Amino acid sequence: MSKVTVVGAGFVGATVAQHVAEQDLADVIIIDILEGVPQGKALDLMQAAPILGHDRKIVGTNDYKDTKGSDIVVVTAGIARKPGMSRDDLLKTNANIVQGVIKETQKNSPDAIYIIVTNPLDVMTYLAWETLKLPAAKVMGMAGVLDSSRFQTFIGMELNVSVRDVRAMVLGGHGDLMVPLPRYSTVNGISITELMPADRVEALCKRTRDGGAEIVNLMKSSAYYAPGASVAQMVSAILKDENRLLPCCVHADGQYGLKDVYVGLPTVLGKGGVNKIVELKLTADEQAALKKSADSIRENIDVMKQLLVAV
Ligand SMILES: NC(=O)c1ccc[n+]([C@@H]2O[C@H](COP(=O)([O-])OP(=O)(O)OC[C@H]3O[C@@H](n4cnc5c(N)ncnc54)[C@H](O)[C@@H]3O)[C@@H](O)[C@H]2O)c1
Repeated sequence: MSKVTVVGAGFVGATVAQHVAEQDLADVIIIDILEGVPQGKALDLMQAAPILGHDRKIVGTNDYKDTKGSDIVVVTAGIARKPGMSRDDLLKTNANIVQGVIKETQKNSPDAIYIIVTNPLDVMTYLAWETLKLPAAKVMGMAGVLDSSRFQTFIGMELNVSVRDVRAMVLGGHGDLMVPLPRYSTVNGISITELMPADRVEALCKRTRDGGAEIVNLMKSSAYYAPGASVAQMVSAILKDENRLLPCCVHADGQYGLKDVYVGLPTVLGKGGVNKIVELKLTADEQAALKKSADSIRENIDVMKQLLVAV
C-alpha cells in the first residue's frame, strides 16, 4: 500500500489529498500546525469515499509520527504574502517553514521522494534538496505541469479544440520569466505555430506567464484546483512508474548549460523520481530566455542563503 504525506492542510494540500485518494493512488496523511483543520478535512474526504467508491484511508494529524513510512512527501506548507510584508520576509518565513517540515518528515520517512509546492517554488525546492541531502532525483518541485496545463487550456480555448488533443511545454522558473515553448506545443502533433498567427501565440504565452496572477486578481487568493491536479499527476507518475515526460522543477547539473540551480526542465518521471532530464534543441532566443530565468532563480537562492544566515 502506498502512502503519501501532504504537509499543509490548506487549499492546495487538501486538493492534492483529494486527488491522490480519489484516483486510488495511495493512502494519505494530511499534516498541519493548525489543530483540527487536517483532521476535519481528512474526515470530510473520508465521508466522500462511500459515494465515490474508494477505500483509501485519509488521516489528518498534527503529529509527524503518523507520517512514518511515506513513499512521497508533498510540501505545501507556507504562508501567502500579507500586506506590508516584503518579498524577502516571505522568502525567509517560507524557507524556515520548509526547512522545519522536511526535517520532521525525513526523520520518519528517510526513503521518501519529495515534491515541493510552496512558493517561491524554485528556491524552496533548492532549499529542500540542500537540507535533505538526498540525490537530486528524489527532490523536485511542481510548477511546469501546472504552467503547461494553463498553456494547454488557453490553446484549447483559442482554437476551440479539445484539450485532450493539446500538449504543451513550459520550461524555466515558476514566475514572470517562465519560458513557454510554442514550437514544442501541439494539437495532436501539429505545432501551434502552424495553427494560429504569431501575435496570438505570443498573447497565449503572456497569459500563461500571468496565469497565477490572473486567478489571484479574480478570487483574491491563489489557485488550488489545477495545482492540486498537477501534483497528483506527478504522484501518479512516480507511484505507478509511468515514465511520464513532464516538465518539473529539477536540479540542473550541466543540462542546457545550467549548473547548480533548480529550474523547470522536461523530465521523465517514474519510480525513482526524476529518471531523466530530457535535453531539447532550443533556439538562441529560447536558450537565452531559459538562462535569464535560471539566473533570476540563482539570485533569489543567494538572497535566501543570506537571509537564513542572518537570523
Ligand atoms: N508551485 C505552484 O505551482 C503553486 C501553486 C499554487 C500555490 N502554491 C503555493 O503553495 C503554498 C500553499 O498554498 P495554499 O493556497 O494551500 O495556502 P494555504 O494558506 O491555504 O495553506 C497553507 C497551509 O500551510 C500550513 N502551515 C504553515 N506553516 C506550517 C508548518 N510549519 N507546518 C505545517 N503546516 C504549516 C498553514 O497552516 C496552512 O494550512 C503557497 O506557498 C502557495 O504560494 C504553489
